[in-house]
Order: sequence, then C-alpha cells, then structure tokens
Amino acid sequence: MIDSTALLESDFPNLIHRGKVRDTHFVDEETLLMVATDRVSAFDVVLPTGIPGKGKVLNQMASFWFEKTKHIIPNHFLKLGVDDQRLDCYSSDLKARSMLVKKAERLDVECVARGYITGSALLEYQEKGSTSGIKLPEGLVESDKLKSTIFTPSTKANEGHDENISFDQMISIVGSDIAEELRHVTLDLYSFAHDYALSKGIIIADTKFEFGIIDNQIILIDEILTPDSSRFWDFTKYEPGKVQESFDKQFIRNWLLAQNWDKEYPGPQLPSAIISETSRIYLEVFETLTELKIN
Ligand SMILES: Nc1ncnc2c1ncn2[C@@H]1O[C@H](COP(=O)(O)OP(=O)(O)OP(=O)(O)O)[C@@H](O)[C@H]1O
Ligand SMILES: [Mg+2]
Repeated sequence: MIDSTALLESDFPNLIHRGKVRDTHFVDEETLLMVATDRVSAFDVVLPTGIPGKGKVLNQMASFWFEKTKHIIPNHFLKLGVDDQRLDCYSSDLKARSMLVKKAERLDVECVARGYITGSALLEYQEKGSTSGIKLPEGLVESDKLKSTIFTPSTKANEGHDENISFDQMISIVGSDIAEELRHVTLDLYSFAHDYALSKGIIIADTKFEFGIIDNQIILIDEILTPDSSRFWDFTKYEPGKVQESFDKQFIRNWLLAQNWDKEYPGPQLPSAIISETSRIYLEVFETLTELKIN
C-alpha cells in the first residue's frame, strides 16, 4: 500500500499546511497545490492505515463538481495535477491526487447546507426544537427530509472542533453583506448538486463549503461535494427514522465502535477487509455520481 504521508513529506519541501486528509503546498504567490492523501480520519483522529485510492477519488470528485458548478459561483480550481508540467517530476500517483488552485484569503466560516436532518443538527433539534437558531416543525425524525434546505454555518477553528453558530454570529465574523451572499450561494449550490446527484440515485443529505476572496470577489475554495465534506446516501435504501449508511467511512466507524477504542490518538490498525471495502465504496460513489473512471 502507498504510504502517502512519507511520500509527500520527502517529495515536497513547500508544505504549508497539513490537514487531517489533505496537504497544501506553496507553488507561487497566487497558486497552491492541494494534495488529497489516502489518510482517513474517524472521530477526528487520523488512523494509522490509509485507504488506497481514496485521495484520487476526493481530488477528482471535487474537480468534477468545480466544473459543474462554476455557473453558480467562480471557484479556485485551476487544473488537476495530472495535467500540469510543473508536476512532471513527481510520481503519477501523486499527480492523480492533486490539484492546482488559486490562493484566496479565506473567510473563516464553514457554510453548511442541510436538506435532511441528522448528526449535530438532529441533536440540537431534539434538545431545543431548532437548529442554528432556525425553528423547525415538530415531530421530525432521524434523516427526515426538511421542507426547505437550511443554512447552518459553523466556525472555522484552526484548532479543535468547529462549532455551530447562528446566522447573527456569522454576521459578526464576515459582515452582513458577505453573510447574506454566502447563505444564498450555499443554498443554490446545494440545490443544484442535490438534484444532480439524485438523478444518479444518490442523496446529498448535507454538505459544507468554504469561501475565500480574490480581488474583492467571493470564490468557492477548499474541496466541494466529496464524501469527506458531505453525507451521501443511497436513494434506494433511504428510510427516515433511522441512521442511514453513508457512502464513506461508515464501515470504518462501525468497526471502530466495536473495538472498544477510546477515540484517542493513535487509533487501531484497520483489518484488510475493512480497508478494501472502504476503497470500493469511495470508488463506487465516484463512478455512480460522475459516470467517469478514476485516473
Ligand atoms: N484556495 C484556497 N486559498 C487559501 N486557503 C485555502 C484554499 N482552499 C482551501 N484552503 C484552506 O486550506 C486548508 C486545507 O486544509 P484541510 O481542509 O486539508 O485541513 P483543515 O481544514 O485544517 O482540517 P481538516 O482536516 O479538519 O479539514 C483549509 O484551512 C482551507 O480553508
Ligand atoms: Mg478542511
């Protein structure tokens, strides 16, 4: 298996940020190289075992959606690493998992759109009848489709967990004009992507976007509409009232929960059956959604 962590550290002297899954490298003052590794995190801990093929799927799925949504809002995507001569000195594996993007000044909020109620939004709803300050109808159950999509921003924490915030709190971070614009664009992007995915048999239950500014213009940045930033459900298996299996790390999470692991670093090594099943799921969702083959 590829040890993407070791490979990247030695190949790239210009690493400027290491996320749980992706590495960001400086290319020039205006350009970044984002590399999606095969690292996988569960319960916010990066596990010792990677998922072969996962990075390529994330990278190529994000580029698919950047292309598909550019009529809604411009984005940072320049080109897949595979096409760029400046990357010729690196291995083809690395090129297939990377993209060149325009460097932006990040807006420090995460913009979440939810068309269905689950996860932290459901917990808050069960406690207060509302989520992120938005009152919701009574009687909603796990995974119910919402009458209209809700916008639930969260902080973009440099350390620790992101925290859900109200729209008013978001205004205090980015100002009201930008907050309104981000809400509007987030809901437009979600609506477009939800309908597209549904036509391929996949429900996008919720998703998160990040935005930045270049030359006074708001653009879409980071990764978009991947299994790491969204919940993808199989439409044919959708059944409100219970937790849906999502097309991503569900197998890993279930297996981990059965291990008595304390959710502290380092997590346990994953068995090979769990690894290969997870690889298969990432590939399946990519091919189903995009009708493309992975590079
Ligand atoms: N075009 C861009 N210009 C500037 N910063 C960007 C751009 N696109 C993404 N970013 C930022 O680069 C970083 C990418 O890191 P990544 O998402 O891998 O890790 P993270 O958000 O710190 O942690 P996590 O692993 O929880 O996602 C994020 O901070 C993101 O906001
Ligand atoms: Mg991130």
